[in-house]
Amino acid sequence: MRLNRRTSATVAGAALVGLALAACSSGGSGDGGSGDDGNGGGADEVEVFTWWAAGSEKAGLDALVGVFNEQHPDVEFINGAVAGGAGSAAKDLLQSRLQAQDPPDTFQAHAGAELQDYIDAAQIEDVSDLYDEFGLTDVFPADLVDRVTAEDGAIYSIPSNVHRANVVWANPTVLEENGIDPAAEYADLDAWMADLDTLQAAGVTPLSVATTWTQVHLLETVLLAGLGAEAYNGLWDGSTDWESAEVTAALEDFEQLMSYTNSDRDGLDWPEATQMVIDGNAAFNVMGDWAVAAFEEQDKALGTDFVAFPVPGTDGVFDFLADSFTLPVGAPHPDGAKAWLETVGSLEGQVAFNKAKGSIPARTDADPSEFSEYQQTAIESFGQDTIVSSLAHGAATPVATLNAISDATSKFTSGASDLATYQSELAAAAQG
Ligand code: GAL
Repeated sequence: MRLNRRTSATVAGAALVGLALAACSSGGSGDGGSGDDGNGGGADEVEVFTWWAAGSEKAGLDALVGVFNEQHPDVEFINGAVAGGAGSAAKDLLQSRLQAQDPPDTFQAHAGAELQDYIDAAQIEDVSDLYDEFGLTDVFPADLVDRVTAEDGAIYSIPSNVHRANVVWANPTVLEENGIDPAAEYADLDAWMADLDTLQAAGVTPLSVATTWTQVHLLETVLLAGLGAEAYNGLWDGSTDWESAEVTAALEDFEQLMSYTNSDRDGLDWPEATQMVIDGNAAFNVMGDWAVAAFEEQDKALGTDFVAFPVPGTDGVFDFLADSFTLPVGAPHPDGAKAWLETVGSLEGQVAFNKAKGSIPARTDADPSEFSEYQQTAIESFGQDTIVSSLAHGAATPVATLNAISDATSKFTSGASDLATYQSELAAAAQG
């Protein structure tokens, strides 16, 4: 399926159909109480901690800040963004601050296992009251709310958006110049790799990638393609054996795909890798759909200047992640944080932010026609596809597991370990 179809589905309709997110809501131990427990005050400013520090990501944040400034003109927005895609630098820094009792007023956290880490560590407050206060109880898909909810039913963050991770972005001119049909539909990774061979033989960089987290991002899509949605899900709940022959075969595909990539990858972050495709310096890039914002920011048109399709072998599956915002325990400006959370959850905030960010609103009541052609395909897919959890973006595993998988991946792709070692290190990482 090419990702350039128009859809007439409404967000609300789409999100109600077949959304099957596995709830991840165990072991909450936050201390509860968001607004009436004596920690009010600090309405004059809000430090917002994200990793949306530059480029199209900052443009998304700026759009949200624009709505915030309209809705809360008396609260000063303090930008606490820390550069590094996927929070590659931000998450460690955040953890140091939380442990030093120096939290920002609110921070970005992925719905799912990553948020659960903060809940388990009692680092974030129950914001259930704010759902009532802001009228949010029914505006998000129930299964998404489950991912920001603890076992006792308390809700711990407000989702801002939904992103899709399993997308290939391609430069049609580069493909045509090398005799490859930009409209080709690849049944599986093998079919795709035949074209990657052609490009490599022609001296073109077939596939761009960047630093470790983008390699883990590629890995998750290859595991999904090789194993299928059910067995991929099983990697995270223990029902799929990481030492199996199927995983070995997927890792061989990953190794092969890495052989098509740019050698300067470890010094780059996602914007540079995607830019290689925008500039015609690489044919393909696998990246989450924040990439569409980079194309659109540079006035590139879907279907003409770039094409997008699900990673071969993953058609019909939506590799899901969502950003959300929290109220940290001990936030110095909790009322400023609540003002920010109100804007994050508002329809106006979600429309402005997601239009610029490439994601789709977490709210189900936005009008799809306000969004780009690509985003309309994402809205449709989110409504009808099988949903799985992203590894690289905090939905599938706790941060410690992701860090161990990232370390093993970095060793493997830099040549410091062989495939058998890599596989057993991944198996050990997944055990926690
Ligand atoms: C993800 C995040 C996205 C985007 C991406 C690249 O983890 O959820 O919103 O920022 O990283 O930095």
